[in-house]
Formats: sequence, structure tokens, C-alpha cells
Amino acid sequence: MSRLITISNRLPISLVRRDERYEYTPSAGGLATGLKSFHGQNDNLWIGWPGMEIGQEEDQREITDRMKKDKMHPVFLTESDIEDFYEGFSNKTLWPLFHYFNLFTDYSPYTWERYVEVNQKFADEIFKVARPDDVFWVHDYQLMLLPALIRERFPHATIGFFLHIPFPSYEMFRSLPWRRELLNGMLGADLIGFHTYDYVRHFLSAVKRILDVDHSLGRIKLGDRVIDVDSFPMGIDYKKFANSIHNPTTIREVVKFRNNFNHEKIILSIDRLDYSKGIYQRLEAYDTFLSDHPEYQKKVALITVVVPSRGNVDQYQKLKVQLDEAIGRINGKYSTPEWTAIHYYYRSLPFETLTALYYCADIALITPFRDGMNLIAKEYVATKTDQQGVLILSEMAGAAKELTEALFINPNDIQGISDALHDALNMPSEEQRTRMQEMQSKVERYDVKNWAELFIDRMYEARSLNTRRREK
Ligand code: F6P
Repeated sequence: MSRLITISNRLPISLVRRDERYEYTPSAGGLATGLKSFHGQNDNLWIGWPGMEIGQEEDQREITDRMKKDKMHPVFLTESDIEDFYEGFSNKTLWPLFHYFNLFTDYSPYTWERYVEVNQKFADEIFKVARPDDVFWVHDYQLMLLPALIRERFPHATIGFFLHIPFPSYEMFRSLPWRRELLNGMLGADLIGFHTYDYVRHFLSAVKRILDVDHSLGRIKLGDRVIDVDSFPMGIDYKKFANSIHNPTTIREVVKFRNNFNHEKIILSIDRLDYSKGIYQRLEAYDTFLSDHPEYQKKVALITVVVPSRGNVDQYQKLKVQLDEAIGRINGKYSTPEWTAIHYYYRSLPFETLTALYYCADIALITPFRDGMNLIAKEYVATKTDQQGVLILSEMAGAAKELTEALFINPNDIQGISDALHDALNMPSEEQRTRMQEMQSKVERYDVKNWAELFIDRMYEARSLNTRRREK
């Protein structure tokens, strides 16, 4: 059996410097959970950046050695790699453009060159440890050139690529001066996956219109290879969230929240700090709601959790200031000595607190302008084992394609969001249960393990197909 080599920008670890030494702990993100059973097998390997700059060669050697036992291989990025490749081209060019923030997009030839160089750096690290018959699974927008770089060195390798963010429409994508290079990079793979069928359509249309390469039912023929393009909506570890309410720490947290909010319905908003998430407009909608329905003042509370992210990128810094100001303004307008309109946490929360919040929240308010999938919506649904609670979800989130029993809103429609809050607060208990049950059965059936299995099976299918074609 060939080895599975997973390559993502970040390794699934958290690295800290303590007492002059670097220490790391595995972090259980969605991808790591989905791949857990595969990663544990054989000599499978995960290649990626440890998440901070490690300047000293001695430290790099030590970390590389230690990671071997956990089947990981680090790619060390310098400070300028982080600035130009990660904060630069990945997060100032690809991220805004792919989320339809055209005006935030920076078209810098310099950071593009650096993106090319760092993709090559990942490839060079791969070639130090990989074999031509390995199966390579490359993840996300930071590494779009990697499939072709691996293909160049190992022409018969099996390569999969999965994009975790939206693939934009051709009209957006075409504005990139490096559109051909990026498509050719992705087309080095045998299997290209997206969260939704819309992103598949956008990609196939870009390939046709930019490279003049056609497809038949999502299958592209390129030289002696076929490339399959399909949608694989990513799931979550359903059981982990559904069982969280049996955890004693979570139960203690639930009791605390219930005691603190015994007169209020909880509206929950959780995101990574990102302009694509529509957090500011959500706050405006809450302001509109409180002003349209003063009878709900003191009867609802908005808990806003914002997880710090990409703090060196200007747009993220500006958004943080905007949110602080909006929350201060709304609290100043409505709060009283007995009641706070918005409870604001700017940090990440421990799993037990997070799931207690999901469990207690009467409404999850998730309103991104664009989102590849949005796993928070799925986590909320999975945690609500009492089947009470309403999901208000943006129609622009990938998850909207599956969670069709949510209350949908257009994130630009502030009045619409405010009205949805009113509808959610008045939804009969039986209707909440029916909607929640339907969504739970979907999230449970197609969890993250299934997602990974399906993608990996399809990579092996692609491998046999392409081997047969070569042998003909
Ligand atoms: O949604 C895309 C993604 O890259 C996720 O895979 C990741 O969890 C998130 O964005 C945060 O990314 P970063 O590595 O920039 O913190």
C-alpha cells in the first residue's frame, strides 16, 4: 500500500517557545480529525509549516527529529516568507479575491514571485522525504502551484488537491494576472475537490475560458491524464460535539451560562476575525433589531466571540478597530446596570466552553459574506442534542447547500437579518425540533471521517484509472 502524504500550509500542531526550547502539542483541527485514522497507518506523513519562524538551524534540526515520531515533516518559513507568501500573496491577494473582496485585493508581482518560491520550497521539502509511488493530498489556496510541481518530479504520482475556500466565478478569477499559472498548478492533480458544486462549476468554467480546456461531466482530459473535479462538502467530528454535553467541565460551564443568562435568550456569534464573515453587519442588524423591537431589550443577549487571526494584515487590524467601536457604541446605547446587550470575547475559547455556549445558545447567528463551508454552523447543529435552537445562516456559506432547514439571510440585508432574529425568537418549539433533527441527520451521516475517506478513495480510483490509461 502506498503512503499517504498530506501537505497543508500549517501542520496540525501548536508550537510554543518555553525555557529556551520549542515545544509542540498536536492540535485537533477539523482536517487532523478527519485524517486521524489514515495518518496513524503505515508510514503516512504530514508536511507543513509549524506556524512560527524558527531561525536557528540547530533548533530546526531538533524539531525535525522530534517530529519524525509523530510522522510530520516541517517546512521552515523565514520571516520574509511569512510576510510575502502567507500574509502577502495568500492572504492579501488570493483570500480577498476568492471571497469576492475585489477592492481589498493586492496585485503585487513581488508577492506573487515569493508565492512561487515558497510553493517550490514546500516541493523541495516533499522531495527530501517522498517517493514517486506515494499518494499526495495537497490542501488549500496557499499551495495551488504544488500539484504541478510534484507532477513535474514524479510524473506518475497520484495527487489530490482540495480547496477549503470558495472558488470564485470566472469574472472574479480572471482579474488575477497569474490566473493561468494558478490553474495549471492545480491541474497537476488527478483529483480536484471543492466544498460545493458551485465552486466546481466556477473552476471548470475558468479552465475552459482561460486555458481553453474542456471537460465532460467534470472530467478533464489533459495529455495522457484524466483529472476529476468534484464536490466533497467537508464535515465535522459529529460525535465529539454531540457527546460534549456529557463532559463534566462542559456541564459546569452550561450551569454557569444558564445562571448568568436566566432571563435572556442567547444569540451566539462566533468567528475567526475576518472581513469575509460579516461580523460588523451582524452587529448592525442586532442594533436594528433592538431598536425595532424594544420589547426584547433585557430579554436577549448577544454573545460575540471573535478569534484573533492574521493580525499583521492591515484589513484585519482595521476590522478589529471597527468591531471594538461598534460593540462599544451598541452597548453604550442599550445596556443598563442590570443588562448588557453584547458580551464580547476577543480570544479563542476552550472546547468545553465553546460547546457549552453552543448548547445554551437559542440562536446561532452566522452571516458570512462568503464562506467556503462554515463548520461552526455544523458544530452548533451537532451540539444541540436537546434539538431546541435556531440556526440563522447566510445563503453565501457553503454549508447553506446542506443545512437547508436553517433560516436563510442575505448578509447585506441588515433589515432581513433583524427580521430573521425576530422569527427565530418566535419559532415554535416543535418546528425548532423538526428543523434541527433534519440538519443533525445530515451532519451526522456525512462527518469529517467520511469526507476524508471519500476523497482518499477517489484518489486511489484516479490512480488506477490513470495507470490503466498509461498501460493501454
Ligand atoms: O478556511 C481556510 C483556512 O485556511 C482554514 O483551513 C484555516 O483554519 C483558516 O483558514 C485559518 O487560516 P490561517 O492559517 O491563516 O490561520
